Amino acid sequence: MKELVITRPDDWHVHLREGAVLQDACRDLSRYFGRAIVMPNLSTPVTNVALAEEYYAKIKDAMNLLPRQFSPLMTLYLTDKTSNQDIIEAAQSEIVYGMKLYPSGATTNSQSGVVDTQGLFPIFEAMQREKLNLMIHGEVTDHDIDPFDKEKVFIDRHLEPITREFPELKIALEHITTKDAVQFILDSGDNVASTITPHHLVYNRSDLFRGGIKPHLYCLPILKRSSHQIALLDAAISGNPKFFLGSDSAPHSIQSKESACGCAGIYSAHAALEFYADVFDQMNSLDKLEGFASEFGAFFYGLPKNLDSITLIREDWKIPEKLPIGNEWLVPMMAKETAKWKVANP
Ligand code: DOR
Ligand code: ZN
Repeated sequence: MKELVITRPDDWHVHLREGAVLQDACRDLSRYFGRAIVMPNLSTPVTNVALAEEYYAKIKDAMNLLPRQFSPLMTLYLTDKTSNQDIIEAAQSEIVYGMKLYPSGATTNSQSGVVDTQGLFPIFEAMQREKLNLMIHGEVTDHDIDPFDKEKVFIDRHLEPITREFPELKIALEHITTKDAVQFILDSGDNVASTITPHHLVYNRSDLFRGGIKPHLYCLPILKRSSHQIALLDAAISGNPKFFLGSDSAPHSIQSKESACGCAGIYSAHAALEFYADVFDQMNSLDKLEGFASEFGAFFYGLPKNLDSITLIREDWKIPEKLPIGNEWLVPMMAKETAKWKVANP
């Protein structure tokens, strides 16, 4: 196949940041995504509707001069102090689509996240009642748990009890990385789904150490061994609507990645769809791309599919070595490598 026309896709999990970085993240993301679920982990987290409205306005502003725009779908950051009133206001808001649970200390800007998951059960109860979605960064933060096991332990200790206690709460387990997560999603009800990133499909943990340590492949949850990568690939191309696109594209400057204590995050907004297309092509499953990229996420969140379409063509193009982001530069996913698919009419 040389050309593929699909309904315009959406990104169900992305980081846009603020200020000059926001401008450039929007530049890339707006090329072909219709909607994007925007993560709330800013340096001052987006914990309530008023802050989400401010951030929403900044995102709209940042897109003012761009040739096309995506619709930002906002999320709020859960803390141990989130109140019932916050949930009621979030549920009534026209721009908020869910609450994001970051275990405190699990990842970038998660310090204000949740320490006591059990303590939030009354809030989950309110969310279930108000039909407000829960998005989860599924990793425990205990230092005595091996980093490669943190997702599985989170599922066993926290996610399983949450899904048992709140059978109607709609939950997206974000950026899944293990066969254990795939199995958990398969075993759960229709109210539980997951996003899969391009980087967890393209890479495994051997890539992190190939020829030396690769800070630009450091993300959280960390890349896992190839047997897990294979389980993710199988899930992505399975046509099961519980698995859909969420790039987790996260801009970090070269300086902050190439550091004695580098930050977690991989930037893919410049070509995420092309990377997914290449993966699906290699798996002889291009016919499953549209469901994964353009249908299942909307279906899960109870939204209509986009009305227009985009065309992908099979054409080699070189990913730049670096991209401007705000006042700095970043190294994008697949830098200096050749992408095999290209969006023709973004
Ligand atoms: O690698 C990651 N980067 N994982 C996350 O969960 C957060 C993200 C970020 O905000 O940079
Ligand atoms: Zn993320």
